[in-house]
Amino acid sequence: MEKSLDQSYWNQRYAEAQTGWDIGYPSPALTKFVDGLRDKNQRILIPGCGNAYEAEYLLQHGFNQVTLIDIAPLVVNELKQKLKQYINEGRLRVLLGDFFELNETFDTILEQTFFCALPPTMRQNYASHMYSLLAPKGTLAGLLFCFPLTDEGPPFGGSVEEYERYFGPYFEIQKLEACYNSIKPREGRELFVKLMKI
Ligand SMILES: C[S@@+](CC[C@H](N)C(=O)[O-])C[C@H]1O[C@@H](n2cnc3c(N)ncnc32)[C@H](O)[C@@H]1O
Repeated sequence: MEKSLDQSYWNQRYAEAQTGWDIGYPSPALTKFVDGLRDKNQRILIPGCGNAYEAEYLLQHGFNQVTLIDIAPLVVNELKQKLKQYINEGRLRVLLGDFFELNETFDTILEQTFFCALPPTMRQNYASHMYSLLAPKGTLAGLLFCFPLTDEGPPFGGSVEEYERYFGPYFEIQKLEACYNSIKPREGRELFVKLMKI
């Protein structure tokens, strides 16, 4: 039977410190991608942000319109404390809520272990909702796992072929390739993806 990966599930994971996905720093593949972004005023979203180390990196590097959303109150409250300086400066918003209910427009969305945390039945919705959240020519970029999809998860795996099926109808697939700068424990198990809204 499919696990209910709802708010109480995720909040409980944080309450029990069962957060094996949390690497404790921004992932090198994403910082490298961010280093290539020129417009510091673009609207950037990190959904299912968890401890959002990538957000700190963005803010430290001058990005001014960063939005984070997570469904787990515990981690959202901690983030609001940890990053309050940026919130007060008006450069950061930290939202408690369901990504699928967000209704705004962003220029860039960063993916890091959010897709793989969702029940696989949500993948179609993920692709279409990402499309609806992006401005024309907006980008969804980040990391997706590449190991076989089974009932075991989260994290749930997937393949290039599967990702092409979900994202192909909505995006120009600019990159969907083996990630060369994964962190050690994820080496050979990640794809770097860069999708432009068409
Ligand atoms: C595996 S964790 C990844 C956290 C973070 N991206 C990282 O890499 O450390 C998945 C995160 O997605 C959040 N989440 C799950 N479903 C969500 C939803 N529908 N809307 C927003 N956040 C959600 C969880 O609370 C959790 O923080």
